[in-house]
Amino acid sequence: MREGGSKKFAWSARTQWDFTETPWARHLARLRAAGAQLWDLTASNPTHCGFAYHAASILAPLQDPVALHYEPNPRGLRPAREAVSQYYSDHGATVDPEHIFLTTSTSEAYSFLLRLLCDPGDEVLIGQPGYPLFDFLARLDDVHLVPYELFYDHGWHLDLQALRRRVNSRTRAIAVVHPNNPTGHFTRKAERAAIEGLCREHGLALIVDEVFLDYGMAGQEDQESFASGSHAVPTFVLSGLSKVAALPQMKAAWIACFAGEEDLAEALQRLEVISDTFLSMSAPIQCAIPTWLRDRAVPQRQIRERLERNLAALDAILLHQTLVTRLEVEAGWYAVLRVPGLQPEEETALELLLERGVVVHPGGFFGFSGQGWLVISLLAPETDFRRGIEAIAWHFKADSP
Ligand SMILES: Cc1ncc(COP(=O)(O)O)c(C=O)c1O
Repeated sequence: MREGGSKKFAWSARTQWDFTETPWARHLARLRAAGAQLWDLTASNPTHCGFAYHAASILAPLQDPVALHYEPNPRGLRPAREAVSQYYSDHGATVDPEHIFLTTSTSEAYSFLLRLLCDPGDEVLIGQPGYPLFDFLARLDDVHLVPYELFYDHGWHLDLQALRRRVNSRTRAIAVVHPNNPTGHFTRKAERAAIEGLCREHGLALIVDEVFLDYGMAGQEDQESFASGSHAVPTFVLSGLSKVAALPQMKAAWIACFAGEEDLAEALQRLEVISDTFLSMSAPIQCAIPTWLRDRAVPQRQIRERLERNLAALDAILLHQTLVTRLEVEAGWYAVLRVPGLQPEEETALELLLERGVVVHPGGFFGFSGQGWLVISLLAPETDFRRGIEAIAWHFKADSP
């Protein structure tokens, strides 16, 4: 009790975050506010990376008069789901539009699935290194996210034995990011089969995040979606327009559901109630989804060219020194650098910011273990990217004895 008989107000434990700003974040905000010249190698918002968006054709479908009527549908409007189904046909997979749920983001899709599959305190396994947003999503739904290790040996691999050891009586699902962010590797067919086997053995669902599926590097363009093939366990494939059409501001994504007849009927019925409780999709966005998906080749082509040019520029710069190397990249918008690991990565990132004006994420942010990992975005405008990488290479050269 406080003085005067009032009790201290209590916030929920799930929002008991550490709000302390890191020195890196504080200095970055200060430098940005001062208009300092920075080489931002964390840039991942495609609408800020200098791509040519065709305004008229993107905005025109938002004028569709169909949007003047409210037709609530927990799955989303049928033409939009048919367009998503067509997206999978283009990837060689068959998906019934009735098995698709539209959501405002992949993040929302995760949240729907966590509520579908988990009770408070249940566990979902996810590969590490991985995307840090998932920790927040799980915590907000009272689910424990349990990492399973991915290891690098001339490419990224799944440690199946480690994954198996993570399964316990509270485990409800395994999440796979295909291709993974930020490691940029695809799950191999044999790995998929092994994960499905484990799910089957322990009665687990499979959640597959394919937001970067369309961004395979040269030679990796035809990697299969988990929507293809048979589905021995309940499988939920997620994707959305933030990456597929480079339109994160439009807030459109989906869940495609696969399972044996009985589980599928259950999943659809339950998801219908979850989605109906929110009905979060707006009509104009749903009306525009078919056009944005149809025209996705336009932004994708520009982004792929950017990724390949930046990767080539990175290799050309790294060729002239030995202290910084990169890991193989199969797909996605990021690359991982190996730098001298003589101090915590946060300190390296802070030095790069303060001494070289380079903005990079330390690997620890994505769950890399050990020291000496930096994650860089390949989406950054080409001049910024080149200058930033040159500055990193110079930084370590200048530092070396
Ligand atoms: C692997 C992965 N999944 C999901 C998301 C979030 O996507 P959305 O904008 O649809 O919520 C991101 C965002 O970068 C991501 O990297």
